[in-house]
Amino acid sequence: MRIPLQTSHHRTLTVTSSPLSNESAGLVRRDAPEPPGPGGITRITNPWTAWRDPIGMFHRVTQEYGNVAMLKFGPLKYVVLNDPQAIRHVLLDNAKNYVKSRNYRGVKLILGNGLLTSEGDFWRRQRKLAQPAFHRERLSSFIDAMTLATDKMFDRWRVRAESGAFETDIHEEMMAVTFHIVGLTLLSRDLLGEAEAIGKALGTALYFANDYAESIVNVPLWVPTPKNRSFLRARKILDEMVFRVIAERREARRNQQNSAEKRTKNAGDLLDMLMDAKDEDTGEQMSDQQLRDEVMTMVLAGHETTANALSFSLFLLSKHPDIARRLSEEVATVLQGRTPRLEDLPKLALTKRVLEESMRLFPPAWAFERQALEDDFIHGFKIPKGAVVGVCAYVLHRDAAHWDNPEGFDPDRFLVDPKDRAKYTYLPFGGGARVCIGNAFAMMEAQIVLAKIVQSWSADLLPLTKLELDPVITLRPRGGLRMRIRATPPALPRAQI
Ligand code: HEM
Repeated sequence: MRIPLQTSHHRTLTVTSSPLSNESAGLVRRDAPEPPGPGGITRITNPWTAWRDPIGMFHRVTQEYGNVAMLKFGPLKYVVLNDPQAIRHVLLDNAKNYVKSRNYRGVKLILGNGLLTSEGDFWRRQRKLAQPAFHRERLSSFIDAMTLATDKMFDRWRVRAESGAFETDIHEEMMAVTFHIVGLTLLSRDLLGEAEAIGKALGTALYFANDYAESIVNVPLWVPTPKNRSFLRARKILDEMVFRVIAERREARRNQQNSAEKRTKNAGDLLDMLMDAKDEDTGEQMSDQQLRDEVMTMVLAGHETTANALSFSLFLLSKHPDIARRLSEEVATVLQGRTPRLEDLPKLALTKRVLEESMRLFPPAWAFERQALEDDFIHGFKIPKGAVVGVCAYVLHRDAAHWDNPEGFDPDRFLVDPKDRAKYTYLPFGGGARVCIGNAFAMMEAQIVLAKIVQSWSADLLPLTKLELDPVITLRPRGGLRMRIRATPPALPRAQI
């Protein structure tokens, strides 16, 4: 296969691209040039612009230098990949040569050594332990919690909508409902009362982690700068919540053992699975600190991303009333006014496509990165040992090479069977072995919450509200998203229209 690469001089280079891992042979390897790109600080890579508009930076680099490009900041080398085959090479085919990049050290400050940030055998073991909590059969038992949490949100909305309608930040609402769901399903705990405090702490911690990852030099955490202090305060709030949940569960398990009762209430949720897990050789079990890291990871990775996907979906629906109308017809036809059940999910097909299309346009995990352990070769270019490799899902998902009308909102493009879609062009959940463990959980949750909202409410963007993107660690709407919420009479099922 030949891949054309646009260079800064708008010349088209053609390089041999396949099979990538066999490019190792002979001269190609020894003489391989590094990928093209601006050296040092330029209009494109000016740190201020890159910090203000990282998505724009990815976009411009790809436009000017092609789908495998490299930026250099002193000794730091950053490779931007926007070619599906090259991305597959890093995430799957040659994944053993890549670890999570140094830029994950920011998230690591919050998550410690949990599933998202750990590596090697340790990660493999933890992934194996956590996987059963996300199996299909288990997911089906989560439906009740998902509908319950959404109904609780509606109770709050009904009070506020007494005079017909009310205005709210829909992103905050979605953060609260997904936080409630993660607590109920993975920890068997109702954490709703803590949603506001946790939300604030999380915001502070994420912005800090983002800045920390992007800075070349960081003030050590023990230096009491105002930023460090506010981060440590936020992390303490998050830690206290998680350690409390762990301590209470340990206590409950002890009591049950003492009273020789069979454990039934919590048995089988993620926390129980992690607590039950034993090292095959040593019989050792997870310490409270390790449990804390895994639980924190699930709570964080599992709620904000889904909340963002739901918020952007509601934003897009409010901008596209024709699709919103079709969606309420689908929901009315499938659900006939009742609450969604497992068997309804395949029939809520447009609901799913709306979410898929919204994650194409606004991928909640808008970029992910790896770091090369050894020199590697991609499309004839040398990826030097130590280089950070970045994939920007936002840019990839809007690339006209893979998508017709890439900027348009067209859920029906997902009518195409995923098997017929070019691989590694759509990566809302990442890819390879480190693909999102909560992928099916998130889709099911988002389908249920969105269908239930559409069933009983309308959500309209306030006039003059503009969507501004905030690509922190996840892609959020900057400053939230103000919408007007109104209870609606049930839409008529399609057959009756
Ligand atoms: C729409 C919602 C979600 C999106 C867009 C999303 C996206 C992602 C992406 C892109 C990755 C890979 C990151 C990388 O390769 O560096 C990832 C990993 C992960 N996600 Fe999700 N996620 C979502 C929901 C969830 C949920 C609901 C959970 C758990 C309840 C979860 C837990 C995780 C964990 C633990 C990892 C690390 C997996 C590993 O490395 O083994 N995510 N997610």
